[in-house]
Amino acid sequence: MKNFKRTLVTTALPYANGPVHIGHLAGVYVPADIYVRYLRLKGEEVLFVGGSDEHGVPITIKAKKEGVTPQDIVDRYHTIIKKSFEELGISFDIYSRTSSEIHRKTSSEFFRHLYEKGEFIEKISEQYYDPEANQFLADRYIVGTCPHCKNPNAYGDQCEACGTSLSPLDLIDPHSTISGAKPILKPTKHWYLPLDKHQEWLSKWILEEHKEWKTNVYGQCKSWLDLGLQPRAVSRDLDWGVPVPVEGADGKVLYVWFDAPIGYISNTRELLPNDWEKWWKDKDTRMLHFIGKDNIVFHCIVFPAMLKAEGSYNLPDNVPANEFLNLEGDKISTSHNWAVWLHEYLQEMPGKQDVLRYVLTANAPETKDNDFTWKDFQTRNNSELVAIFGNFINRALVLTQKFYAGVVPELGELAEIDRETITEFQQVKCKMEKYLDVFRFRDALKEAMELARIGNKYLADMEPWKLVKTDATRTATIMHVALQIAANLAIAFEPFTPFTAKKLRDMLGMSEIKWADLGRTDLIMAGSTIGKVELLFDKIEDDVITFQMNKLEESKKKNQLLNYKPADVKANVPFEEWEKTDIRVATVLECTKVPKADKLLQFRLDDGMGGRTIVSGIAQSYPEPEKLVGRQVLFIANFEPRKLRGIISEGMILSAVDADGKLVLCEPSREVKPGSTVG
Ligand code: 2FM
Ligand code: ZN
Repeated sequence: MKNFKRTLVTTALPYANGPVHIGHLAGVYVPADIYVRYLRLKGEEVLFVGGSDEHGVPITIKAKKEGVTPQDIVDRYHTIIKKSFEELGISFDIYSRTSSEIHRKTSSEFFRHLYEKGEFIEKISEQYYDPEANQFLADRYIVGTCPHCKNPNAYGDQCEACGTSLSPLDLIDPHSTISGAKPILKPTKHWYLPLDKHQEWLSKWILEEHKEWKTNVYGQCKSWLDLGLQPRAVSRDLDWGVPVPVEGADGKVLYVWFDAPIGYISNTRELLPNDWEKWWKDKDTRMLHFIGKDNIVFHCIVFPAMLKAEGSYNLPDNVPANEFLNLEGDKISTSHNWAVWLHEYLQEMPGKQDVLRYVLTANAPETKDNDFTWKDFQTRNNSELVAIFGNFINRALVLTQKFYAGVVPELGELAEIDRETITEFQQVKCKMEKYLDVFRFRDALKEAMELARIGNKYLADMEPWKLVKTDATRTATIMHVALQIAANLAIAFEPFTPFTAKKLRDMLGMSEIKWADLGRTDLIMAGSTIGKVELLFDKIEDDVITFQMNKLEESKKKNQLLNYKPADVKANVPFEEWEKTDIRVATVLECTKVPKADKLLQFRLDDGMGGRTIVSGIAQSYPEPEKLVGRQVLFIANFEPRKLRGIISEGMILSAVDADGKLVLCEPSREVKPGSTVG
């Protein structure tokens, strides 16, 4: 591998139309931060660039819905996102935004340069136009019937009911979501990046020269390239974005996917106005893009083609994209509020940044989609962070306080077991590097945890708490070795759990740490004093997890209600047929569970005609049947009697089925005489 002088690390710019969630974190920001912290610990020159992606149609739609400007929307979310990243310890050198002036300038100049070099083709095509609102319609602004599943609310780019990708022209009966008007087709000019012309060098560069890229990334690139690249429009008819900087382009802006990656450049320029070019153009700089799998084509094909067309920029050396993280078995969804939002987590779980960082790394979707569950979060905290890492540190430090009033004891002569333990923990550095260097952070974290396990086992085997009564010298040596392991943990965990690593460093009185020191046995000196001992992690109790699960449950319910579509109406019934059904009102006299039947309740009703018994399958919606006594219900009085669990049921009680599947009894809006007819 080529030797580089410095590394530029970028992370996908999240859209500023909502806060960030654990999927973003696990896929992009936590791994990038681990890597950057690792490089910094190694003393390497590194620049970590992030920012918000503040253009694109979803932002304009959200603004319209709320009756505010797109700038209001991005101001709101940029602030939330930036603050939450800071609080989680994502250590950007700069986190800026694409609505900044420097970004407008940088992306305009970039476009203009390509335009002047003749790197675009201009094409006129027919696109939908809203004749009432007098504007061209982005795909998302057009709604119509899906040709595949007949969903009447399919968007111009996708039907969310059946998941099919669509083009606006596929929609049956399209209409504009702005005015409701039927759109008309109108010619419009756009600029295209002729990716087909870049196919050859891209294929060679990726498929031959970057075989080391992660399998998921390489595979996706290969399938794009195998399909054959097509020209891509880099402008849009929209009033939110960077204006296309050429004559006759009024009302046109750069396509968000053209300007967003240039945001990496703008943000570097903003931070280092006089020195930014070395990060982008010096051949001794290595560039890495951390992204999620949905961004692969843009970072491995489109952006490199833009950079190559420009001519003076470096291309990325690697694009370590991750797969997706699901939540409790379902795809994370911003619009369905099926997510764990970072800013809420930080508020609800104060001081637990490292727990989230740990869990998201231990379970990172590095090679395949993974699932986050609150139960797993609790287990990893309680049985790994608390029981292994925290427990070892606590034991080592509390014993040092107890035996030596906090003064690190002298190292005596090493026994065989000490030497074995030291050899074992010295291998951790090499193992971690092997993984960190190829972006396998889960495995690297496992090795760091292994160090804590080694420490725990050493103390458990040596039992210094017993030995201290008989052999002071030996106990001192053991405690000295244990404290060196603790100090090593402060280095090994710094990239993953920086808050905890800092706490540990403070307790051990370590000031500067270096990656190169990992494995050393003289990190803290005999005679130095350790600080006040605090627990590194606290146990997470069930009620904390239940609170989070209930919150998700609420979201699920709201979604079910929001997305509720009534069932199709059954075939018509002639009046004479309908008339045969006899619906009446009754008052509940008794109501009990039917033994050994989860779903059934047995009702004794005052039906005004001497009383009757009905068995109804609503037990799961009414867990306290005795509370129904005295209520009125509607029932079908001439329903053929049936035997259910040995009970003759003389009719059927009516209930509505709610969006979440719960059954709700129907009753008259005021009390009426039992036996009254309903019609
Ligand atoms: O997918 C997304 O969230 C995009 N906003 C990522 C942009 S990455 C880069 F190009 F800025
Ligand atoms: Zn459909």
